[in-house]
Amino acid sequence: MTEAAHIRRPFSLEGRVALVTGAGRGLGFEMARALALSGATVIINGRDEARLRGPAEAIAAEAGRHVETAAFDVADTAAASAAITDIDRRFGRLDILVNNVGMRDRRPLKDFTATEMQALLGADLIAPALLARDAAELMARHRHGRIINISSIAAAVIYGHDAVYSAAKAGLNGLTRALAVDYARAGITANAIAPGMFATETNQAMVQNPDLAAFVDLRVPVGRWGRPAEIGAAAVFLASDEASFVNGHILVVDGGQTVRM
Ligand SMILES: NC(=O)c1ccc[n+]([C@@H]2O[C@H](COP(=O)([O-])OP(=O)(O)OC[C@H]3O[C@@H](n4cnc5c(N)ncnc54)[C@H](OP(=O)(O)O)[C@@H]3O)[C@@H](O)[C@H]2O)c1
Repeated sequence: MTEAAHIRRPFSLEGRVALVTGAGRGLGFEMARALALSGATVIINGRDEARLRGPAEAIAAEAGRHVETAAFDVADTAAASAAITDIDRRFGRLDILVNNVGMRDRRPLKDFTATEMQALLGADLIAPALLARDAAELMARHRHGRIINISSIAAAVIYGHDAVYSAAKAGLNGLTRALAVDYARAGITANAIAPGMFATETNQAMVQNPDLAAFVDLRVPVGRWGRPAEIGAAAVFLASDEASFVNGHILVVDGGQTVRM
């Protein structure tokens, strides 16, 4: 689109190809949905092809465009690399990478084995770094790319017994800033989204917990859990041409939780 067309219709992702990891449900699904509704060709990832079919069809029906799937485990480095090569073969480009998969394992540090820590760091930090590395090669070819890492407010404020996840997300923020510096001259920006407490399927037991309801009421200025769909616009904005000068930013989407004293 021309610059004038963008002013008339901002945040259009028409012609862009986006890969969203862990997009079969939860925040990944909502970001994939929002990107597709904004005009992008979206590829949704998860570990099981059969579990991706329903979500892909749901987004396709709503957005009126085909939604692709790419089943692989992000922690399987060979499979993840092969998936990027396959996207290159199928689409000839990749404009937007949303590194959304995030494994959480809330336990006291003393209960973790080294292998368990490595598994969490592998999925939450090493996998996004390797996917960004491989995706950046494709993006650089068209001198255009948007890397969006899904972090967490847990990188900055600590709930307790969450050391490995908090460390992984803090590392992801550091990775985001480093990518922002290293890839900017190739036309690629890197930013992160740090969600607060969202009422996703995975969090349903917590959403039903009356103690946590009292916590949310007290600590979250808007006084409620985030609705999963409320993450979509943040991803669309960071993916858009309009965000071309936004680079190395951590966009907090938490209803004000982290600014409350
Ligand atoms: N929900 C929140 O309140 C919240 C708050 C702060 C930050 N976050 C961050 O936001 C992101 C999404 O959270 P969520 O709660 O929406 O996710 P989720 O529901 O736990 O998982 C989303 C999807 O990820 C897929 N997945 C899991 N491991 C994978 C792997 N190794 N490779 C490929 N796909 C994988 C799962 O599909 P399969 O099982 O079919 O593979 C699942 O459908 C995470 O990075 C999380 O840390 C969430």
